[in-house]
Amino acid sequence: MTAALPLSKFRSLETPFYFYDTALLDQTLCAIKEQTVSRPAFHVHYAVKACTNPKVLTHIVNAGLGADCVSGGEIQACLDAGFPANKIVFAGVGKADWEINLALEAGIGCFNVESVPELQVINELATLKNCIARVCFRINPDVGAHTHSNITTGLAENKFGIAMQDMEHVIALTRSMSHVHFSGLHFHIGSQILQMDDFAALCLRINELQDRLEQQGFGPVEHINVGGGLGIDYADPDAHPIPDFQSYFQTYASQLKLRPGQQLHFELGRAIVGQCGSLITRCLYVKEGSEKSFAIVDAGMTELIRPALYHALHRIQNFDSQGSEMPYDVVGPICESSDVFAADYPLAETRRGNLLAIRSAGAYGETMASQYNCRRLPASYTTEDLT
Ligand code: LLP
Repeated sequence: MTAALPLSKFRSLETPFYFYDTALLDQTLCAIKEQTVSRPAFHVHYAVKACTNPKVLTHIVNAGLGADCVSGGEIQACLDAGFPANKIVFAGVGKADWEINLALEAGIGCFNVESVPELQVINELATLKNCIARVCFRINPDVGAHTHSNITTGLAENKFGIAMQDMEHVIALTRSMSHVHFSGLHFHIGSQILQMDDFAALCLRINELQDRLEQQGFGPVEHINVGGGLGIDYADPDAHPIPDFQSYFQTYASQLKLRPGQQLHFELGRAIVGQCGSLITRCLYVKEGSEKSFAIVDAGMTELIRPALYHALHRIQNFDSQGSEMPYDVVGPICESSDVFAADYPLAETRRGNLLAIRSAGAYGETMASQYNCRRLPASYTTEDLT
């Protein structure tokens, strides 16, 4: 990918900033299309929380994907970007009234409901607007995924979703309500999942649940939504710039027993935008500590919080040095000792002014940026901007 980076353009820009390789993004979207075109029941909604940059959203709209939103702000960003309202789904455990009203007025495709009290409020607000809200229920499948504990969501102890054993009761309750239409079941087991067995385990749970519901006279449902979660290669993004969509979709095609006419929704975030984004930063100082060398860069946890929050390791490249590799602690300027991108990281000998890329930062990078320490939010550029 390095060859595709417009390095000479980077040099004239103030750092830090995000760069999105939109050619890679388009290739990634094509790879998804290759897998879904022959499977007309498969629909991908991009999990907007991963990256809401409008220039990135435009490419995703153009590829025909829907959107998975978790806030009124995200719904508005998607409407502004041109996503058709009926391809927007709205999830989240704490939907505020104004957000539900915005979604009803826009006519979104479906609410992914996470509790009975929320269902009741959606029914009340839809009644006031004299419209019918399509809902599906997020079910906690109690499937553990092999990923970081902060981003596992499918376990019973988690705050997300409704317990599987309560489903019959909740569906019956929905049928007694006048302004909601029960349309499907929603699942999500976690993020940055690389073992297809985890998705296969989810399929097994869904198969069991569908059988059970149908035996009780509930079903078959119109659609199943399996959430997102497909991971990316943070260690070697150049070896795997595009995730293994073939295995991912094939796992669902072979393991999930879809009923005739039933639609299958996916909510992929990281797998779509993760590898196309890099955080570009400059080395401000190299400080020789008593035991370590610190490469102090001008980006920090305010621009990319994943290392501080999840101990995530992103690949770091120095564009300006051919020197031999040495171990550095690559740190930001923020007044927090967790503001460390990587410890003892092998980097070509680094000097003040060197331009560095922190790779695989397209997902949950710019969207999680903050203004802590009165910092400015980072600028962003795409391939189109710099050619
Ligand atoms: N659907 C639901 C219901 C979700 O909760 C999520 C992510 C997704 C879809 C998209 O998951 P993906 O395909 O991107 O794995 N900030 C963390 C990740 C948090 C993920 C939250 N939910 C990180 O930087 O790793």
